[in-house]
Amino acid sequence: MTSSVEQWLADESATAALASRFAAALPEDTAGWTILLEGELGAGKSTFVRAMLRSLGHEGSVPSPTYTLVEPYTISGREIYHIDLYRVNSEEELYFLGWSDSADGLRMVEWPDRAPGLTAGGDIRIRLAYGHAADESGRRIEIEALSRRADDALLVLGESA
Ligand SMILES: Nc1ncnc2c1ncn2[C@@H]1O[C@H](COP(=O)(O)OP(=O)(O)OP(=O)(O)O)[C@@H](O)[C@H]1O
Ligand SMILES: [Mg+2]
Repeated sequence: MTSSVEQWLADESATAALASRFAAALPEDTAGWTILLEGELGAGKSTFVRAMLRSLGHEGSVPSPTYTLVEPYTISGREIYHIDLYRVNSEEELYFLGWSDSADGLRMVEWPDRAPGLTAGGDIRIRLAYGHAADESGRRIEIEALSRRADDALLVLGESA
């Protein structure tokens, strides 16, 4: 069985609330996990990651990794890498910017389809989409398990509502 969670997010605070439930549903040891975040420009991928990091205890800023491509965090001894592949030119460039180092941590990857060879073995796919055009703050989110260990985490998430 493949677990998945779908929800309507009426505004940014709903996105943040789900992101913190999502963070809480992950196991303590997420070394080597990859989470793929898909959706158009401005759909809310970075907003979701920012809320996750905050809920895990990060107090500093969370800059968008649009230009650095990889932003590392250490939160209570846990390594988390916020990665944005929108502007990546080649997989070699990404290795140069620290992709290999991120293997020991939890990777949160925006625009994974820009480097499909590197992101093929993801654990979870999160898709964010705009709702009705007249509704600027509504989003639809789908969270899907791609691995067995992620299946368990999404069952926990589904039960945490
Ligand atoms: N329900 C919502 N969830 C998330 N963001 C929302 C929501 N409603 C409005 N917003 C706004 O939409 C924008 C989302 O921007 P964000 O940087 O998170 O998008 P992104 O998907 O990471 O885009 P990019 O592909 O450019 O990195 C923010 O300005 C945020 O305030
Ligand atoms: Mg972003």
